[in-house]
Amino acid sequence: MGDAALTGLTECSKAWGMTKARTGAALLSLSLDRDSTDTLQAQLLVQLRRLILDRMIAPGSKLPSSRALAEELSVSRVTVSAVIDQLISEGYLEGRARSGVYVEAELPDQLPEAQSSTAASVDQGGADILPEKAPPVAPAPLQPFDTSAPELMLFPYRQWARHHDQTWRRPDAALLSRVDPFGWPPLREAIADHLREWRGLPCTADQIFITSGVVEAIGLIAAATLSEGDEVLTEEPGYAVLNRAVHHNRLVSVPSPVDQQGFDIKTALQTTPRAKAAIVTPSRHYPLGVTMPLSRRLELIEWAVARNAYVIEDDFDSEYRFQGQPLPAMMSLSNQDRVIYVGSFSKVIFSALRLGFVVFPKSMLPKVRSSSPQIDQQASLMLQPVLARFMHSGDFAIHIRRMRRLYAKRQVAALQAIKLHAADLLTVDPVPAGMHLVANLTPDLQSRMSDTEAAKRAKSAGVTVQPLSSFFAGPPMRQGLVMGFAGFSEEQLENGVRVLAAALGV
Ligand SMILES: Cc1ncc(COP(=O)(O)O)c(C=O)c1O
Repeated sequence: MGDAALTGLTECSKAWGMTKARTGAALLSLSLDRDSTDTLQAQLLVQLRRLILDRMIAPGSKLPSSRALAEELSVSRVTVSAVIDQLISEGYLEGRARSGVYVEAELPDQLPEAQSSTAASVDQGGADILPEKAPPVAPAPLQPFDTSAPELMLFPYRQWARHHDQTWRRPDAALLSRVDPFGWPPLREAIADHLREWRGLPCTADQIFITSGVVEAIGLIAAATLSEGDEVLTEEPGYAVLNRAVHHNRLVSVPSPVDQQGFDIKTALQTTPRAKAAIVTPSRHYPLGVTMPLSRRLELIEWAVARNAYVIEDDFDSEYRFQGQPLPAMMSLSNQDRVIYVGSFSKVIFSALRLGFVVFPKSMLPKVRSSSPQIDQQASLMLQPVLARFMHSGDFAIHIRRMRRLYAKRQVAALQAIKLHAADLLTVDPVPAGMHLVANLTPDLQSRMSDTEAAKRAKSAGVTVQPLSSFFAGPPMRQGLVMGFAGFSEEQLENGVRVLAAALGV
């Protein structure tokens, strides 16, 4: 940064007065290298985010206007505005109408790597810039493009901790006595409200059973409705965990092909006419991302009604839709009680929570009540009331909306990076929803390696992609790379694509 910029920023800090001096001083450290291969925007984004994370700019303080910052840094206002917009969407900054842009009072917690830089500044005698609160335990670092990662740093941990504290400081007596095996009633009510609003599913709290995840859900459904040796249709490709859960319950899993419209019951019945259940992801097939059209959904329900079978609707991340309205949950289409809905908090919050749920048709409830004692209730009661408060307070909906905006931008960044750095290796279409993309290998790349080999090379280079072939229980019918974008910043995605392209290049 030139002298003029330094003077200008000093002027800025004077203009804000003493309380703003710390912000001004911190901004003085911004230094953009015009010879760097990183764009000015990328440099500014990283440095400003770092200043905020390290509390060099105090939470709640106001930033100078984008015009002033642009002038002082000798960059365009568009560059500064793009950085500010990005930091607003990441939750570091907050734009206030007719007032300006402020550092969020409740900051997202520190990035794992931020801890080392904070430690370094303390070593250098920077005790006055110690974070004002202890950082949370850093999760194990995930590499781009790990599909299991939602954005972990921007979860509202502080609000969560407040709900936890309010719950357990003086626990409700009902929590300490015998709780309904279906789970904590206020959580079941909150889930019913959520499903009505977000998934168009008119259910009531008494239909909801809280689980520790999809594996428990399958066990519960098997105990209530299926018998040993029954054939259960699953999706091919699909989520291997489901196939394992089916086997674990002494049922026979029959993977059935998915096409451009998702699971097709007519094709599945050609080989398995006596199937007793089908586990499907109609809102967004996992991992291909296709949405099952209404006609296919109705065929599936018709089959279930005619054969006294069950459709198990696995709906795990449908809240993250970026365009258009999602089709309502399949369960809402059937008044014949043949659809069982399985939901999860693993993607909308994070999987460490280990909380999910099943919505049973009303007519099944007596059977579930009588069979559920065969299943050990696994969902911890410590977290259920906390999640109930989190949902009832509105914090949950705010979090989902915020993540939805963020993930939409991240998808665009991932697509752009692939186009820019890996167009001769991968082709990929945008997805209207969800948290990952499926990239196809170009003929050139396919002629040189399989998706498994590509994933292996990517891993050694430091990025995680999943070969599409690994989602097939039988012989793989397609190759591709499954790439999660939700849990990584735009910079990480761009760098990740560069690393991937270098690893897969000739
Ligand atoms: C296809 C599919 N179903 C369900 C789930 C949720 O599983 P659980 O609630 O056990 O974490 C996931 C999570 O990744 C998934 O990918």
